[in-house]
Amino acid sequence: MTSAPCHLEACWEPIEGTTGRFEFTLFNFTDETLTGFRLAYTSLTRTADTHVCQGATLLRRNANFHEYAAPVELALAPGEQWTFRVSGLTRPAKHCTDGVKSAYMTLSDGRALPVTFGDLMLKGRKSTAAPALLPEGRLDQPFSLLPWPAECRLTAGGEVPVALYPAPGSGPVHRKTMVAVLRLFQRLFSAANVPFSLTAVEGGVPVIFASSSLSKEGYALDFSPGGIRLTSGDAAGLQYGLTTLAQMLHGARTDPAKFKFPVAGRISDQPRYAWRGCHLDVSRQFYPAADISRLLDILAWNRLNIFHWHLTDDEAWRIEIKAYPALTTIGARRGPNEVLVPQLGDGAEVREGHYSQETVREIVAHAAALHIEIIPEIDIPGHCTAALTSIPELADGQEAPDSYRSVQGYPNNALNPAIPATYEFLGKVFDELIELFPSDYVHVGGDEVANGSWLASPLCRKLMDQEGVEGTFGLQSYFLGKVKAMLDTRGRKLAGWNEVAHGGGVNAENTLLMAWENQKVGIELAHEGYDVVITPGQAYYLDMVQAEDWQEPGASWAGTVPPHYTYTYEAEGDFPHELKHKLKGIQACIWSENFISKAYFNHLVFPRLNAIAEAAWTPKAQKDWERFAAITRLSPLL
Ligand code: ACM
Repeated sequence: MTSAPCHLEACWEPIEGTTGRFEFTLFNFTDETLTGFRLAYTSLTRTADTHVCQGATLLRRNANFHEYAAPVELALAPGEQWTFRVSGLTRPAKHCTDGVKSAYMTLSDGRALPVTFGDLMLKGRKSTAAPALLPEGRLDQPFSLLPWPAECRLTAGGEVPVALYPAPGSGPVHRKTMVAVLRLFQRLFSAANVPFSLTAVEGGVPVIFASSSLSKEGYALDFSPGGIRLTSGDAAGLQYGLTTLAQMLHGARTDPAKFKFPVAGRISDQPRYAWRGCHLDVSRQFYPAADISRLLDILAWNRLNIFHWHLTDDEAWRIEIKAYPALTTIGARRGPNEVLVPQLGDGAEVREGHYSQETVREIVAHAAALHIEIIPEIDIPGHCTAALTSIPELADGQEAPDSYRSVQGYPNNALNPAIPATYEFLGKVFDELIELFPSDYVHVGGDEVANGSWLASPLCRKLMDQEGVEGTFGLQSYFLGKVKAMLDTRGRKLAGWNEVAHGGGVNAENTLLMAWENQKVGIELAHEGYDVVITPGQAYYLDMVQAEDWQEPGASWAGTVPPHYTYTYEAEGDFPHELKHKLKGIQACIWSENFISKAYFNHLVFPRLNAIAEAAWTPKAQKDWERFAAITRLSPLL
């Protein structure tokens, strides 16, 4: 038999009244007899401190990384298999992706060998696959438009134009924007015929450009046999009007039985919310610059206008900071023999990746050209394992190790508010960030600081006494107040997750918080005077599983989130009328723990991202799930 990697099978057995039991079986497909080896895997279903392991010994666990020793007497010959079982898990498994996300083994001579793996199997019960997540859908009007416009009264034409072209007399700005949308279209649908021609063509339709004082980002389209009049109030509105034309033309060409191009009528359009966001976590998984650009293109196509770039977390720090090269030489690199151990998706090979400042500038420029603002996030004070590991001077050396753990299982992962070097560090990071990002806001995280953080740091104890602040969240509020002042002096506003308001919060003026725990939190924040973006895990976290069935992939800690729920969810729901002005908009969040392949990303992100785009743009009265389902099938994937 030719040599192949070892393969790890995992199944989960439900056991009444417990979190169940994992059973792992390693198949030796190599041509060596394996002895004295260690097996490492990563899994979001973690082994708890108190656990029982039969047939192996847990050597190390760091967040989702687990390393087991095989029994000393084990000699696993080629073709043989070895089984061990673990009970005492941090939570029960619910889906096929709750098991192994990467694995490797370390031989007694120190070599790291790859290990392949499959889905988590369910033991003792039949697992099920989800039914179709999207219906066929139904169209009342045969136009491919996503998001659907605020007002749309159109008559379908029989013939699809060869191309749309600028009417004589169009200005250079109009022609340039037409080319920008043409290029966007080419990047998204590179094999499709283009929607626009800069010169008049036989069988084409002229676009007559006009401007008037429409609301921000608004546009209108008037169709008549002689041409299309596109009125816009600003540059974004002009881009969106042309995007709408490109969408309808592409739909009519791609699926002519379903979609037509209009010959008469009017679209009058403007966004429901000013903040139409999409977040992406690039820490758990690294996305090359080309993927970021593609996602930006997809956002623009869906008229989303904010990209919230989650650049740092426990698992990695992904942006070059020239004052602290270690943040990326150490903090963006994980592997079996690296300072940061392998995490979700990492096997025997080192995986690393970060964005150089030059790349960031290119991405910011790409976004700006599409009327997308990038909000950078440096997640502090929690979620800082990568930073603290890269720059050990940022820790209080007297703090007891493993004195608290984050919900993700990271020990002592918060920046220390009592160390002057913390503020020197942040000052330098902010100085470099604001040179790169022209956004009004800098997002500073503020989420999930574990209760109990810093209480075993003598320096923090002393500071708490001095400042008269109480407990973890009193100290967090003190810290974030200083961070807000640092941003103020740099002319930037503070954005953060909803926990920024804990322990007294920060001055609400010019502070925008993202309500991720639920909508009620968002209403409370608005009451407290904060501007609010609604992004609840139960509706807008795109890593959440889309059906309860075992075979459906994704996370489930915030619930099960079918596309229909995401689409119909109303962020305004219970918002009191007098607080509605505090609600700036809504946002999709793409957390990456589960996205160990592009296929998982596409399966979970689309079409729920499009659903959020429509919820962000289209008035409630115009939302229509069946129409959305019918149209979204043409949507581009990453
Ligand atoms: C979050 O989900 N921790 C913002």
